[in-house]
Amino acid sequence: MHIFLYGPPGTGKSTIGKILAQNLSLPFIDLDQVIELKAGMTIPKIMKQQGESVFRSLETSALIDLEDERESVVALGAGALLNDENRDFALTNGRVILLTAELEILIERLQNDSVKRPLLKGDLREKLMALLEKRNEHYNSFSVIVNINEETADQNAYQVQMVMGRHHLSAMGEYDVLVQSVEQIGHLLQERGLQNPVIVTDENVAKFHAEKVAASLRASGFNPKVLTISAGEAHKNLETISILWRSFLETGLDRKSTVIALGGGVIGDMAGFAASTYMRGIAWVGVPTTLLSMVDASMGGKTGFDLPEGKNLIGSFYPPKLVLADPQLLHTLPQAELISGMAEVVKHGIISDPELFKLCSRGLDWVKNNLDEVIKRAMEVKIKIIEEDPYEKGFRAALNLGHTVGHAVELVSKFNLRHGEAIAIGMVAEARYAVRIGVAEKGLDEAIAVSLKALGLPIDIPNEMTREEIVNSMKVDKKKNSNAIRFALPVEIGKIKLMDVTNLEKVLEN
Ligand SMILES: NC(=O)c1ccc[n+]([C@@H]2O[C@H](COP(=O)([O-])OP(=O)(O)OC[C@H]3O[C@@H](n4cnc5c(N)ncnc54)[C@H](O)[C@@H]3O)[C@@H](O)[C@H]2O)c1
Repeated sequence: MHIFLYGPPGTGKSTIGKILAQNLSLPFIDLDQVIELKAGMTIPKIMKQQGESVFRSLETSALIDLEDERESVVALGAGALLNDENRDFALTNGRVILLTAELEILIERLQNDSVKRPLLKGDLREKLMALLEKRNEHYNSFSVIVNINEETADQNAYQVQMVMGRHHLSAMGEYDVLVQSVEQIGHLLQERGLQNPVIVTDENVAKFHAEKVAASLRASGFNPKVLTISAGEAHKNLETISILWRSFLETGLDRKSTVIALGGGVIGDMAGFAASTYMRGIAWVGVPTTLLSMVDASMGGKTGFDLPEGKNLIGSFYPPKLVLADPQLLHTLPQAELISGMAEVVKHGIISDPELFKLCSRGLDWVKNNLDEVIKRAMEVKIKIIEEDPYEKGFRAALNLGHTVGHAVELVSKFNLRHGEAIAIGMVAEARYAVRIGVAEKGLDEAIAVSLKALGLPIDIPNEMTREEIVNSMKVDKKKNSNAIRFALPVEIGKIKLMDVTNLEKVLEN
């Protein structure tokens, strides 16, 4: 499936297309250049000597030739899809992204552009306005429209990626992160040469979504088995890992097989870990089914399981071959789990996206109606961080905001608190500490608490827990750095400071 960039002249289809192709690790094709190469002359010359209709038929044949090309980013001419045959071809063989911008921006870009455009010859403003008016209905008939009003081409290309929900990660392994329907999974595995898939899921997810995934795999010629394990953090242990290893053997998985982790963070962490160790490592694909795992756990290649002494104490860095997040899967997620996942979304806002934090502060109803946007924005924060620091040598530790206290609280609650609930409590406790020691601006702790509360998350350490229990639990936290524990403390919304803390009792003082 190609990515077709289309839209009025001056929207930067070629410039943005090149950057997009590089970001997504795909080839780039400029259709106008293909036409010029084939015709052996420039487009203005074709138009002048042979007329627009000849040019249009060359355009159609260049487009149809793309059917045999591997997936590419294709920049189309500004009128390439006026013809019904071309339009149908593009919509069947890819996704059309319509780029658009305000008139003044288009004029400014076209004035500074060296490309000659026969249809705009003469008074640029007048010609462009007439062309836009004539094609207004046509351009607006495409369903994915991206306003490219950002300052730089890089930012505009990123904007297109955000709208498409598509990223290519390369800092730890090479893999795509896609926000799209899980019904595409068979095709996506095939495209990537992944073989012999087995679905690992839990009892709750299995009843809603396993068949959908299996059906898509079958439609692509696979014969998937489904391995279902018990749900919940309490089962994220060596015993379950051992069950998975043995089931892989019984199912006949070999070194070329693929494990599909269909579930929340617990399934992702365990199926990923089992895949990383089975026969010294086989391929795995993340299909997150909770909000938390979509925006956080599924990306970044951290896999593992818990010991009775603490969470995630055993694990490996082992990136998946693909992450496919389908927001539709969240419709079956219990509301409490959705709310729990919002803690990580707010966390991402606090770390580096003040706009996302503001959106979250609108409360749960707004979030539920705008899940697609929330997921894509929150994913973006995580992706940027893990691409910069895949092995947590530095800034990736920012993602631990709220987690040092949060993990301890989660453990002391004996997992009666959900992960996100514990993280929400942890974020507020850590923000209060940051304010007390002067790292954070005054009132930041309150702002974070208000936002989390509006989403229905807890913000205070439960009364039945003692400070001592939590501190003791923090001491076995794996982020321990010699005698100190590295905290990710908020400085302001959008800014984090990593700080080693030795006196843990102080963190929880009132
Ligand atoms: N690897 C990482 O980088 C990373 C990052 C953050 C968190 N995590 C880990 O993630 C785990 C928490 O993940 P989680 O919150 O997704 O918990 P989870 O996987 O336990 O899922 C929560 C519950 O929701 C159910 N469920 C999941 N998807 C569903 C759906 N679509 N419909 C109905 N029910 C559904 C599950 O069966 C489970 O009962 C923790 O173990 C944490 O350590 C890992």
